[in-house]
Amino acid sequence: MFDNYDQCSAANERASKLFRADTDVGARMSFHTADVADLAGELAKYDVVFLAALVGMAAEDKANVIAHLGAHMADGAALVVRSAHGARGFLYPIVDPQDIGRGGFEVLAVCHPDDDVVNSVIIAQKTKDVHASGLRSGRAGDGQYARGTVPVVSPPCRFGKMVAHVNQKREEFAKAEVAF
Ligand SMILES: C[S@@+](CC[C@H](N)C(=O)[O-])C[C@H]1O[C@@H](n2cnc3c(N)ncnc32)[C@H](O)[C@@H]1O
Repeated sequence: MFDNYDQCSAANERASKLFRADTDVGARMSFHTADVADLAGELAKYDVVFLAALVGMAAEDKANVIAHLGAHMADGAALVVRSAHGARGFLYPIVDPQDIGRGGFEVLAVCHPDDDVVNSVIIAQKTKDVHASGLRSGRAGDGQYARGTVPVVSPPCRFGKMVAHVNQKREEFAKAEVAF
């Protein structure tokens, strides 16, 4: 089951319409209009929480959202944070893995795609010992998360394939009829 939270009811309405056509996935999706800052107890029931890139545009807001998730998610649950890398930061906020550590998570991996996917993802796990993760994230000096210690996964360059794929998608979108 997937619970989708968005503070914008129009976004939820559109998203739920997109899933109407797929009875299998659609039946497992539910949409809730709420600000993530107002969620508390319900966060503890999820094995995985995906944090959208645009929730918390400024670094401080993003850190606050992550700390809120860290305060309410279950120990051992996974957090997948959409981020960006390099010039892609012009399009989406770049999340500092240390803010994730300070929020009570252990950062397990950072993945920077180098194809037509814009967002990086950071995979983290809620730790029982919030204080320890804070130390590891460098709050009390450079610890486990000093540059280069978290595995950074970047697939080999697929620029040629990417161009072909973009052209194919452009043609598909030109032919598609999308109605909301
Ligand atoms: C890239 S869109 C994602 C839209 C859609 N919910 C989805 O998952 O495809 C980012 C969404 O984050 C929502 N958002 C931003 N800040 C939020 C917050 N504090 N709590 C809940 N939703 C928020 C915005 O309303 C916006 O629709």
